Amino acid sequence: MSSSDYIVIKAEEDGVHVIGLTRGTDTKFHHSEKLDSGEVMIAQFTEHTSAIKIRGKASIHSSNGIIQSDSKK
Ligand code: TRP
Repeated sequence: MSSSDYIVIKAEEDGVHVIGLTRGTDTKFHHSEKLDSGEVMIAQFTEHTSAIKIRGKASIHSSNGIIQSDSKK
């Protein structure tokens, strides 16, 4: 496993949610982490987590590059 497998999420506003979705037949929320502005979460895709949803303004650093998510409206 290389370091590119880590996803780094940096919140750029208060109340950003990092939501983990399950792997397998059902795709459900299994974990929600709230980050305030400037907080960072470092996460991986795992046996239990197949997708990660980010709600709110954040920068997401992964092997795909840097992606900006935005706040609603
Ligand atoms: N228990 C979860 C898992 O092992 C923890 C986790 C890993 C997680 N990556 C995540 C939670 C990404 C939210 C987002 O899969």
